[in-house]
Order: sequence, then C-alpha cells, then structure tokens
Amino acid sequence: MAAATAVLTATPLPALDEARAAEERAEGSFRHGEISLQVHGQVRRSRSSHRSTLLDTLRHRLDVTGPSESCDRASCGACTTIVDGAPVYSCTTLAVTCQGKSIETPRELRHRRERRASRLPQE
Ligand code: FES
Repeated sequence: MAAATAVLTATPLPALDEARAAEERAEGSFRHGEISLQVHGQVRRSRSSHRSTLLDTLRHRLDVTGPSESCDRASCGACTTIVDGAPVYSCTTLAVTCQGKSIETPRELRHRRERRASRLPQE
C-alpha cells in the first residue's frame, strides 16, 4: 500500500500584509475606525468600517431605529434620513461619508413638530 503524501504550500504572511496594504491604499485611508455623527443634535461615535452603510450604523451600532430597512436598494424610501438638511437613502449611503454631519430621522422630526404643536395655544 502506498502512503499518501501531501505538500502544503502557504503564502508567506508578508505577501498577504502587502496585498492588504495595497488594497487599503486603493480604497482610501479609512478602513476601520471610529466615526463621529451628529444624531439629533448629539455627537455619537461608533466603530465602523469603510463599507458600513449609514442605515446599519444607525440601527445596529447607535440604536437609532427611526429609519427602517426594507428594500436595501434605494427604491422604497423606508430608510430615508436627513443628512445636513437633505434627504438620503441611508441604505446606500456610506456612514463614513456622513462623518461630522447632522443626521436626523423623519420620525424624530415628526415628534419634534408634534411637541411644538402641543405647546401652541388651543383655540
Ligand atoms: S431600504 Fe428601501 S430605499 Fe433604503
């Protein structure tokens, strides 16, 4: 009976590190790190990757559940979020592009409007 032999080849680790570094250079300087968003007027920080969407960061990292996830492809509008006063589909907006910007959800805007209306004198 012949004995089976196997020859394992492995890519040396320095080659993998170089490939990873080249990939990071190609994608820009931000890969993983902390981002800062101004959510409903409060500065919120979160660990994020360069591929995290604003929707995922808000819902799963910052526990802001106002925007909903539905189609996840910028067609239904359930995830609409206001970034620096302009509506965006947060399911297709990268969180890192919102760094330092003002983020508001339609739900919070509605609550604020209702609170303001309740303070108005009644007729
Ligand atoms: S989840 Fe439908 S547009 Fe974002």
